[in-house]
Amino acid sequence: MRYSEQSLPVALVAGPLSAIDADVLAIPAFEGEAAAAAAALDDGAGRRVAAAFESREFTGKPGTVFVTPCVTPGWRAQRVMLVGMGQRSACDATGIRRAAAAAGLTSRDRRWRRLVFALPAALALPVEAQSAAEGLTLAAHYSGIYKSDADARPVPIEGLIALPASASADDCAAAERSASRGYILAACSNLARSLANEPANVMTPRAFAEIAVQLAAESGLKADILDEERLSGLNMGLLLGVARGSAEPPRMVVLRYEPARPATTAVLGLVGKGVTFDTGGISLKDPERMHLMKTDMSGGAAVLAAMKAIAALKPDVAVAGVVPLVENMPGGRAMRPGDVVRGAEGKSVEVLDTDAEGRLILADALWYARQLGATHLVDVATLTGAVGIALGRTTTGLFGSPDSWVSLVSRTANRAGDRAWALPLFDDYREQLRSDIADLANVGGRPAGSITAARFLKEFTGGLPWAHLDIAWTAWADEAQPWQPKGPTGVAVRTLAELACAFEEWPSLPA
Ligand code: BES
Ligand code: MN
Ligand code: ZN
Repeated sequence: MRYSEQSLPVALVAGPLSAIDADVLAIPAFEGEAAAAAAALDDGAGRRVAAAFESREFTGKPGTVFVTPCVTPGWRAQRVMLVGMGQRSACDATGIRRAAAAAGLTSRDRRWRRLVFALPAALALPVEAQSAAEGLTLAAHYSGIYKSDADARPVPIEGLIALPASASADDCAAAERSASRGYILAACSNLARSLANEPANVMTPRAFAEIAVQLAAESGLKADILDEERLSGLNMGLLLGVARGSAEPPRMVVLRYEPARPATTAVLGLVGKGVTFDTGGISLKDPERMHLMKTDMSGGAAVLAAMKAIAALKPDVAVAGVVPLVENMPGGRAMRPGDVVRGAEGKSVEVLDTDAEGRLILADALWYARQLGATHLVDVATLTGAVGIALGRTTTGLFGSPDSWVSLVSRTANRAGDRAWALPLFDDYREQLRSDIADLANVGGRPAGSITAARFLKEFTGGLPWAHLDIAWTAWADEAQPWQPKGPTGVAVRTLAELACAFEEWPSLPA
């Protein structure tokens, strides 16, 4: 297994910017604030900055940068990079995270190692420090690990965050804690990206389970791996049905975090879809984009990486992570369209389409999370192509009940930079899942495809507070953005970890 974390921890620096030695000093600049940006740099670089604003070479638009040598007398940095922030009034954590990531990616491209990112002092200092640490760390992710030319590897960035000159000693201490939190969250996002990017010949269900065992040992989590025999013993016929077509045996990974001093008896159950490759099975997919189905375990990767973050952040609430792992293949023993299989809870399902496999394995995993004592559930899955038709590539589909739980997940996700939007789950949609011969059909036709998929999952949540994140179009970036290269995004990792830390805000929290 060759996955590796490229990230280096992010440190803080206080004092005047002029005194900071660096290859590049990144200064966030807001639209229409040329004077402020130029004044901060005195004459030397300042005049060039003023000229760049003047000629509109740089306007401060989000995602743009302007680099100039730092010739200001008395300044120690080699270069200054202005990073476009957009309007000051619209600045939020996402804006700072993206600006820091854009600065990091630009530095990496040009092989400048020592990058200092100056906080803009537009938001509360801890929010800025965490977001900047996240952005710098996210920029360190590298996905070309199978390339042979070692010289082509990006240089590791030594990211530093410069605090505003006005910061007190207490401010610095708080910012330090926030930056370390940001580093943990983003390094774990990068871990999920590395896992999701692995080819399916490497990342089999058994390989994923081995990584989980290793990660648990390193992080102080408890791990339990259910093999085929135990899965059959528990009658997980939905999961086993999907696994039948593959020569690779299925697994179910269970990771448990137990706090030293629990503040509540609640248990968060995190469930992630772990289809290591999705051919569609007998309902075979078109070959055109099939190679991307190596990422069909991105939900599972997000749960694993979030468990690692939770183990490091140590919230006072118990968390169980469950990842059902299968390869969906059209082998000679594969499920056929029309087959009826029965899950561990006893419900029978008519499999009208073997490509709707994610909901089958998640159904048994949601049931198992309840057996483990989960009181609140969240699942993450690359579940439907239809979610992208509804929401596009930027926004994760969010479903669930009750509304109080869904809206907490929504707020947490949007703050963490995992943009999510709730779609309805009216009971009327249950009609589309009616089967002539079984309790449920596994597909509900083309209308509202991501909603009926979510509605299927709901049947297996036992009425617990439950939220479902459909990341089919957000787990993988098809195009590079200034703040994010093409490839795996690590979506949902920060959301899940932050949700565990926010347990005091959960609805119906037991004592
Ligand atoms: N893994 C796919 C969903 C997917 C599509 C993920 C595109 C990433 C990008 C899932 O298992 C699937 O095949 N869903 C079907 C459901 C249909 C058969 C009801 C789909 O979306 O076509
Ligand atoms: Mn499928
Ligand atoms: Zn799938």
